[in-house]
Amino acid sequence: MDSNATPLDRLRRPRRGRVLLAGALGVLGAITALTVSVPADAAESTLGAAAAQSGRYFGTAISAGKLGDSQYTTIAAREFNMVTAENEMKIDATEPNQNQFNFTNGDRVYNWAVQNGKRVRGHTLAWHQQQPGWMQSLSGSALRQAMINHINGVMAHYKGKIYAWDVVNEAFDDGNGGRRDSNLQRTGNDWIEVAFRTARAADPAAKLCYNDYNIDNWTWAKTQGVYNMVKDFKARGVPIDCVGLQSHFNSGSPYNSNYRTTISSFAALGVDVQITELDIQGASPTTYANVVNDCLAVPRCNGITVWGVRDQDSWRSGDTPLLFSGGNKKPAYDAVLNALNAAGPNTSPSPTPPVSPSPTPPVSPSPTPPVSPSPGTSPEPGGCSATISTVNSWPGGFQSEVTVKAGNSSVNGWTVSWTWPGGQTISSLWNGTQSGSGSNMVVRNAPYNGSIAAGATTTFGFTANGSAATPSLTCTRA
Ligand code: G3I
Repeated sequence: MDSNATPLDRLRRPRRGRVLLAGALGVLGAITALTVSVPADAAESTLGAAAAQSGRYFGTAISAGKLGDSQYTTIAAREFNMVTAENEMKIDATEPNQNQFNFTNGDRVYNWAVQNGKRVRGHTLAWHQQQPGWMQSLSGSALRQAMINHINGVMAHYKGKIYAWDVVNEAFDDGNGGRRDSNLQRTGNDWIEVAFRTARAADPAAKLCYNDYNIDNWTWAKTQGVYNMVKDFKARGVPIDCVGLQSHFNSGSPYNSNYRTTISSFAALGVDVQITELDIQGASPTTYANVVNDCLAVPRCNGITVWGVRDQDSWRSGDTPLLFSGGNKKPAYDAVLNALNAAGPNTSPSPTPPVSPSPTPPVSPSPTPPVSPSPGTSPEPGGCSATISTVNSWPGGFQSEVTVKAGNSSVNGWTVSWTWPGGQTISSLWNGTQSGSGSNMVVRNAPYNGSIAAGATTTFGFTANGSAATPSLTCTRA
């Protein structure tokens, strides 16, 4: 492709024999007439193939309950090359009872996608909504542990198979740019980075995304709040690879021409940007084209997903916000296809982790190994004791919980120390403050859990790299 040609040049450039036809006509006016009437199928004739020309994907949300609808599957199989399970990989679907994972419907969507040559985005691992009842009733360190266990369980099942995970969904407040109050937020402000660190250890091949709505308009406080979090994560080495802009546009949250600034600003932090749940009230062709062109303008905007196939499949079906009506392509479809076809190759696409698109077996073993309660216990000479147990383990990593217990008088500040036997390293720690170096670990209480009444306990936890170990612990009071 001519690198000097503008996208408009490429769109206008006659293809597939049009040069010969125009030459035969030999009339300039006829050429003009032909070039202005270039149809939507100037280059590729499906959304996925058109997006692939610039190294991007074009995806859709898929609902397991609709896989028996042949109009739905025919369109979806033909048009899209990335799939997100609309509800089937969420927390209530995948862990309906604590520690009992269920991947029946998630696998139906996953297997349909892979059998039809598509990659899969995972949605979502930690979210204040669609939590099963048991999780809704948890708080504090029990909820924190449950979140970690959930991430490990789901990511182990799909390990190596998911292009990108929405690790954390919708954690910011709509109004002020701060965090949304939720049971997860109340476990401590570090819950998001703990989720990302846990996710990286669980499946290093998956891109890890933060996903939210109303972060599309660059001037909104919520956009700035998420931007500052991503900037902070990148500065501190918290593993994050991408930001998902849900992009549900409607009269209350309309598309704004600063959307391109939002995309390029996030990308400049060193993360990919993915448009993850696009729908537009009324499906204006112009607005759809603007969204696509804004993504195409930023090399690290590497894919677009619409939140459903036909208007009738939309969570906001009354808004008719999608690209198909029944089996018919809408004008917005042509606008999107034309915009994708007009793009040149993406000059600096971000590396795509390898995917192994093998169907998931229908029967899934429990991804959570049995708890190993082999505690290393310290005595209570100084007034406290500490015991360690392995909560979860997986190849190359593990998760532990340490229980700190006051003796027969209360404790106001504690320190637990130990020596790793085999080069283990902590990847994330919660409910405590980590110090020490090399194999010599020292963990002090967090500001909020230093005081323990006589005979009472508190816990801290961590994920670590290496083989699970239960070293002897020493507990000292402040
Ligand atoms: O499947 C049951 C059905 O058996 C029951 O009769 C019916 C009665 O209400 O409910 C059905 O479940 C519904 C489910 O969608 C499947 O249709 C739930 O009630 C309903 O709450 C659920 O809504 C989903 C919503 O997330 C929940 O938060 C939407 O389908 C889904 O499109 C939507 O997706 C979210 C993204 O995950 C995150 N971003 C926003 C986006 C839109 O809300």
